[in-house]
Amino acid sequence: MQAILQQIHIEAQALFGRGHVASYIPALAQVPPRQFGIAVALIDGSTHAVGDAHTPFSLQSITKLFTFVLALKLVGDDLWLRVGREPSGAAFNSMVQLETEKGIPRNPFINAGALVITDILTSRYAHLDIALLGALRRLTDDPDLDWNARIAKSERDTAHRNMALAYFMKSYGNFVNPPELVLDNYCRQCAIEMNCAQLAQATMFLANSGLDIGTTERPGEQFLTPEAARRVNALLLTCGAYDAAGDFAYRIGLPVKTGVGGGIVAIVPGKGTVSVWSPELDAKGNSVLGAFALERLVQLTGWHHD
Ligand code: DON
Repeated sequence: MQAILQQIHIEAQALFGRGHVASYIPALAQVPPRQFGIAVALIDGSTHAVGDAHTPFSLQSITKLFTFVLALKLVGDDLWLRVGREPSGAAFNSMVQLETEKGIPRNPFINAGALVITDILTSRYAHLDIALLGALRRLTDDPDLDWNARIAKSERDTAHRNMALAYFMKSYGNFVNPPELVLDNYCRQCAIEMNCAQLAQATMFLANSGLDIGTTERPGEQFLTPEAARRVNALLLTCGAYDAAGDFAYRIGLPVKTGVGGGIVAIVPGKGTVSVWSPELDAKGNSVLGAFALERLVQLTGWHHD
């Protein structure tokens, strides 16, 4: 595995310069673009990492996976009264479908859907950032995991589109809390930082029928039921890469979640997880080198056929 990752690292570097770092969140525009890390965590407990796999990056939309899981644990199937589970085929921050579909977002991973999820969690937790970080610190075994205040503020100061989505949904009765409060929580959640090795570990429960494998110090924990884990993976496969979900399924064929920080996490059910990070994005907001690396990984391992 280490040799495969090293080969992918070398091949991927040829693609530097083909994308652009996200700039609509000003603080993200300052991230040096030519970075690449990849980490694989296997359910036997082994991990493999190359490149910048231990450099923290902004998780951004990858956090939508974790907030969705928390909300699903909390409210179960009632969640589907407020958000759909169909791919949108539209940009991650699009507003167009919300009007014809009466304020119900297509799925929990587009911005509108994630805002509804954060609204649900805001009703439940007085300090959502602490609750979310608590879960993520446990899954990564890193008590210092945190959100980056500078990035959260930069996003919050420029969150005009997300604020519009929230108010639009409120006009249809699909938003409970004040949009300002939910946006505070949402921007903090998006600004959580992790490195590739941590992200691979934190999502291991999705590859392992809902069971987090734990560590030598900490026993494993059934984080989700096997049935719920299967369903989360189905949604990641169909909706995890926004309007590139079909292309990702064609090229990679694994459940994934992407973020405009340049991270992508992929789940290989029954085997493990792969986390890749490189800040240059394509036109749809997904990491150029990250998608390439995952495509090469499934080609070199045959994982997508299992
Ligand atoms: O709300 C936003 O626009 C960002 N905080 C997150 C967007 C994102 O990561 C989309 N992913 N490709």
